[in-house]
Amino acid sequence: MISPQKLAEKLRKEIEEHSYRYYVLDQPSISDEAYDKLFLQLQRLEEENPSLQNPLSPTQKVGGKPLDKFKKYKHHEPMLSLQNIYEEVELGEWYDRWEKSLGNNFQAAGEPKFDGLAIELVYEEGHLVVAATRGDGEIGEDVTSNVKTIRSVPLRLRGTFPRVVEVRGEIILPIEDFKKLNAERAKDEEPLFANPRNAAAGSIRQLDPKIAAKRKLDLYCHSVGRLEGKRPQSHWELLEHFGDWGLRTNPLRSLLKSREEAQAFYRKVESQRDTLAYEIDGIVLKINTHRDQEELGFVARSPRWAVAYKFRAHEGNTRLLDVEFQVGRTGAITPVAILEPVPIGGVTVSRASLHNQDQMEAIGLKIGDWVVVKRAGDVIPDVQSVLVEKRTGKEKPIRFPKHCPSCNSTIARPEGEAAHRCTNRICPAQLAESLKHFVSKRAMNIEGLGDKWIDLFMEKQLIRHFSDIYDLTRKDLLGIERQGEKSAEKLIGAIERSKEVTLDRFLYALGIRLVGERTAELLATHFGKLETFLNASDEEFRNVEEVGETVVEYIREFLDDKHNLVEIERLLKKGVKPKPLINEGGGSQKLAGNTFVITGTLPSLSREQAEDLIRKNGGKVTGSVSKNTSYLLLGESPGSKFEKAKSLEIPTLSEVDFRKLIA
Ligand code: IVH
Repeated sequence: MISPQKLAEKLRKEIEEHSYRYYVLDQPSISDEAYDKLFLQLQRLEEENPSLQNPLSPTQKVGGKPLDKFKKYKHHEPMLSLQNIYEEVELGEWYDRWEKSLGNNFQAAGEPKFDGLAIELVYEEGHLVVAATRGDGEIGEDVTSNVKTIRSVPLRLRGTFPRVVEVRGEIILPIEDFKKLNAERAKDEEPLFANPRNAAAGSIRQLDPKIAAKRKLDLYCHSVGRLEGKRPQSHWELLEHFGDWGLRTNPLRSLLKSREEAQAFYRKVESQRDTLAYEIDGIVLKINTHRDQEELGFVARSPRWAVAYKFRAHEGNTRLLDVEFQVGRTGAITPVAILEPVPIGGVTVSRASLHNQDQMEAIGLKIGDWVVVKRAGDVIPDVQSVLVEKRTGKEKPIRFPKHCPSCNSTIARPEGEAAHRCTNRICPAQLAESLKHFVSKRAMNIEGLGDKWIDLFMEKQLIRHFSDIYDLTRKDLLGIERQGEKSAEKLIGAIERSKEVTLDRFLYALGIRLVGERTAELLATHFGKLETFLNASDEEFRNVEEVGETVVEYIREFLDDKHNLVEIERLLKKGVKPKPLINEGGGSQKLAGNTFVITGTLPSLSREQAEDLIRKNGGKVTGSVSKNTSYLLLGESPGSKFEKAKSLEIPTLSEVDFRKLIA
């Protein structure tokens, strides 16, 4: 029989090979399920044999323990910067200089300039020992535990590699993932990231590696620091070695024989810029051979043998006409720049975010100013800076309001927050935003009740509270201009249908701060019934998976406000029935009073089917094992929950045992 140690090593090799094929070569050779199975098998083996745990195991990629702070890391060789050029004439000047030293028989490697976060990966004996940010070029921060979670970063190199190699590259967050991340943050009213680079940097600077693990970060390797061993003869060879060692490089690269070819490459990459999955802001040209690079050497903090030839940013200059202050669902006041419309990168921009007072003041903005506006990806444009030289003296200062623009109540800036908030809980702007959230697709899902209707109904004083929606009659609707019989009928139907809501959506719809969709789902699963949620103690909230102290505080604040409880009461009276995630009776009660945790793959039931069966029989399902767990429903390749259950002596059930229980 194969020893656990050998088996673990075999599984690791297999998993590494599949990751390499998937993330580096982009040619997966097994299904995601088969991969997950291998992963679970290894996880279980390591859990059962703690001596097998290894910082280089692929199981480390799910993110380790949170840190208190990052350690400093001194780079063995400084991480330099590149000189920038923007114009074809400047490219000509570079070529003139290069030719002066090297003659005209040299090649340059062209590749994209990634707009991400510079990182150094130190591999010793092929093992990833440190990953550090650039910092000031000399001293960066040790962010190893976060970088380890990036799927395309191998923890061990493949093939024949140098004894020590410091690989440098760029961590990026693909544009799609950036948009998703910001959409989630917007829903939870968390501050948005200005662009994918900030999001990547923000993710790598999280102290909890589990957060970095959730973000779909990626890496392109582009250069090298210290290298102990045989040095590749050229940059091109280095990139090929990277591939052989299992490191991801970017395929959009070319060896260029002349300045004309370099200029053509620049145009080609620029024309592809908007079709790429990630952001780039130019190309980098590097003299190819190591010998020529040494010949040219360095100037100050940049190599003479490389240059960044940047694209003109998606930027435009225009005038700031006004600043509007928007009130969000939780009262946050956001300044928005109203601009003279200007085309930027193919779209007309007339509004831009100013984020908050601090950011606005940092730019030193005045009404009437000429400003530089930048678009990053598809994100809301940003006001970058003021063109002070264009000032005429007629510009007017911007006053951050002291009172809410909607209800005139006092505005306060809670300690430690960047946002100002309106303190009036019945502020009409907040109410309108809360109502829009309440009826939205992922909340109560009242189809056809769009933002315009909410504004109109509020204006006509037909609704003020969530529960007023359920008092709307056909007559009310028909009384509104342009509202026909048919659509009134439809809307009434949609309102009626929304009463059958699941508890998670209902909790989400209430708009409790920081209770986004995911938290609402965890709360609903944990508490099962609305009543249990409403009566839970802070301690019980803390026991819910992923619920931290701040969330508990906001839930408590919400529940302590009697208006909220009255409103929930009204909703229930009007027939809204948040469907409990446990059975309230009617069905079998065979599992009543029992709490189940499921782990591993069951022979015939899917996870959802098993959960459903438990709930239908009056039982409760939770995500993690504790002393309150009654049974662990155990499938094949279980995770760490199995260990935990064993240590707490929680009885386990197979699917067959479970079926007998409910038969
Ligand atoms: S080579 C001497 N190649 O740009 C620097 N850098 O201004 C050698 N960057 O922070 C780096 N894309 O991380 C190189 N294809 C690329 C790059 C690239 C982005 C970053 C790099 C550095 C900055 C230098």
